[in-house]
Amino acid sequence: MQDACARDITYLRLSVTDLCDLRCRYCMPAEGVCKRPHSEICSVEELVEITRQTVALGVRKVRLTGGEPLVRRGILEICRGIAALEGVDELCLTTNGTALSRMARPLREVGVTRLNVSLDTLRPDRYAYITRGGRLEEVFQGLKAVAEAGFSKTKLNVVLMKGFNDGEIPDFIDLSCRYPIEVRFIELMPIGEGKNGPFLPADAVLEAHPGLLPLEGSGVARRYRSPGGRGTVGLIEPMSHQFCDRCDRIRVTADGKLKPCLHSDQEIPLRGLTGEALREAIRKGIAAKPPRHHMAETGRSDATRNMNQIGG
Ligand code: GTP
Ligand code: 5AD
Ligand code: SF4
Repeated sequence: MQDACARDITYLRLSVTDLCDLRCRYCMPAEGVCKRPHSEICSVEELVEITRQTVALGVRKVRLTGGEPLVRRGILEICRGIAALEGVDELCLTTNGTALSRMARPLREVGVTRLNVSLDTLRPDRYAYITRGGRLEEVFQGLKAVAEAGFSKTKLNVVLMKGFNDGEIPDFIDLSCRYPIEVRFIELMPIGEGKNGPFLPADAVLEAHPGLLPLEGSGVARRYRSPGGRGTVGLIEPMSHQFCDRCDRIRVTADGKLKPCLHSDQEIPLRGLTGEALREAIRKGIAAKPPRHHMAETGRSDATRNMNQIGG
């Protein structure tokens, strides 16, 4: 279905938990978040029913997010249920990668088609710092397992942070040359813990690597490749090159609220609804999707939740 700005809404980002095993400084408070009672979080059946109704309205691609989706109990059951829905062409998942050495194969077996892995640095000490205690080796093992399980078109999400990982831009580009993956540099957004963070515009990547060759864009990223490289490079620039006019997505939080826009505080409660009533609530949410965010003017997101409660 189209929203009021004639944007086709074909992509659902479904958060399955607020919880995460890491505490990235720009995403989670140091103390973590309180585990909520199970009754406050959508059950497997509710998540599948919500997805079914979005598919009836034209959604074709579903991405599971978190927090960290792989810490959710029943994640494989959720994947299986959604993959079995007629009309779901793509079932993707965005993960921090720490559980992939164990989970890559089972995810593939239950019908996940593609994975995006968040990784902001290739140095173990920096990784431990930015994630407040994570072990980089686990993510490397995870990425190996992803390739072995037969996944392709895997993307690596790198949030750019001035004075933290700007010196590693060449190393990440080198990685995109050596492996058939897309390395995506993402501008830090002033949302939740990311407010007042060390912002670096993604143009810094192009300034440092003027030889990158432009490719056709896809989704929210501008895309490039290095001459002779096996993989590609993407830039996601919500701050410096707004892409709201081609936004095709809606979000649902783990507690069952439809968010028509990442950066708006507008939320439509979906829990307790099924069938036609649920579809009607989703239809209203899509119709009310705001045209754009205002972070460039105001310097902040209007969303009141932290990133771990929305899933990016
Ligand atoms: P693909 O399907 O592989 O293109 O993935 P994706 O970019 O849609 O999803 P992913 O979870 O990998 O998100 C990458 C980054 O883009 C994260 O930092 C998200 O927070 C950010 N992002 C995703 N959707 C939006 C959006 O609608 N608006 C803004 N401003 N940022 C977004
Ligand atoms: N700005 C940009 N990206 C963010 N992410 C989390 N918080 C922010 C922020 N403030 C990213 C994670 C992950 C994706 C789902 O969202 O690194 O790649
Ligand atoms: Fe966890 Fe992702 Fe947030 Fe890091 S960015 S704390 S990995 S949910």
